[in-house]
Amino acid sequence: MKGLILSGGKGTRLRPLTYTRAKQLVPVANKPVLFYGIEAIAEAGIRDIGIIVGDTKNEIMEAVGDGSRWGLTVTYIEQEAPLGLAHAVLTAESYIQDEPFVMYLGDNLILDGIRSLVNDFQNGHANSQILLAHVPNPQQFGVAELVEGRVHRLVEKPAAPKSDLALVGVYMFDKTIFDAAKRIKPSARNELEITDAIQELINMGFVVDPHIVKGWWKDTGKLDDMLEANRMVLDNLENRIEGYVDPNSQLHHKVVVEKGAQIIRSTIRGPSIIGAKTQVIDSYIGPFTSIQHNCLIRRSEIEHSIVLEKASIEDIDSRIEDSLIGRFVEVMKSPVKPRAYRFVLGDRSVVGII
Ligand code: G1P
Repeated sequence: MKGLILSGGKGTRLRPLTYTRAKQLVPVANKPVLFYGIEAIAEAGIRDIGIIVGDTKNEIMEAVGDGSRWGLTVTYIEQEAPLGLAHAVLTAESYIQDEPFVMYLGDNLILDGIRSLVNDFQNGHANSQILLAHVPNPQQFGVAELVEGRVHRLVEKPAAPKSDLALVGVYMFDKTIFDAAKRIKPSARNELEITDAIQELINMGFVVDPHIVKGWWKDTGKLDDMLEANRMVLDNLENRIEGYVDPNSQLHHKVVVEKGAQIIRSTIRGPSIIGAKTQVIDSYIGPFTSIQHNCLIRRSEIEHSIVLEKASIEDIDSRIEDSLIGRFVEVMKSPVKPRAYRFVLGDRSVVGII
């Protein structure tokens, strides 16, 4: 069995971060979200993974490399344009050949892994296995209608969903999916939808087995989902102190302080992670916060947030919450007179002021 990870796309719902960075590389608990998918596939015993890449191909390749760090052989497959998930599958046909495969959307996170699901598919007779999860907002997903436990109909982002069962971004297929994907037409958003291709499998009389995911799953395509994913992963971390914590600092609950980080006269309430070489000075870091490497947090308070590499936050009087702060961002007091807010904000930045 092979793995196929989709890591193209534009990430429009995570702008402005995705103007300069692939959405699959935004970190959750200081690890790119894409790596969780790679690890889940490796953990299921699969050794060959194809990664579909688009415009952000270079940074994805640089981050993942040849896969040897996970004991994998990674092959990069270029999709000429983001023309849909079924289009990505067709792009991978010569790589997959006749083998069954698991397809994993690179911005999805499933906490319980996929090993038993891959086993079930390998040992069963279905042509495809889809994962479903109950969600409060099915209009934003592919939605499945089940009748007596069997998949009756699949619709991509329906305005009036017939159920609350969303298609999770992990699918298992055999080679029949290629014929199905060749038979469908582009959707209203001009993409070849994998949802339509699976519906086509059903129409062609092939067997599509549904599996309802009980554990936690998230599509990290939007800020709130990203923060929730961060919360969930941090909650499962173990304490690990590899950096320096001075005697005037306090760490509560589960905290990770990575190598070379310094915590000076500060309080950190876990679950939180402080990245390598980050300095936290005279500050408070609240629960569910991930600070990546080489950041500076001085005389400030931050909670329930993600701070990306090399950002600095200094002398902020009010607590920062529910925030996603990009690489090299500087948030500081403006000492120059007259007293005023001074911003340099990129396109689609969002600032909340009190
Ligand atoms: C895609 C699929 C959708 C699925 C979702 C899961 O949506 O088209 O059927 O429910 O992933 O994350 P997209 O992220 O392209 O909007």
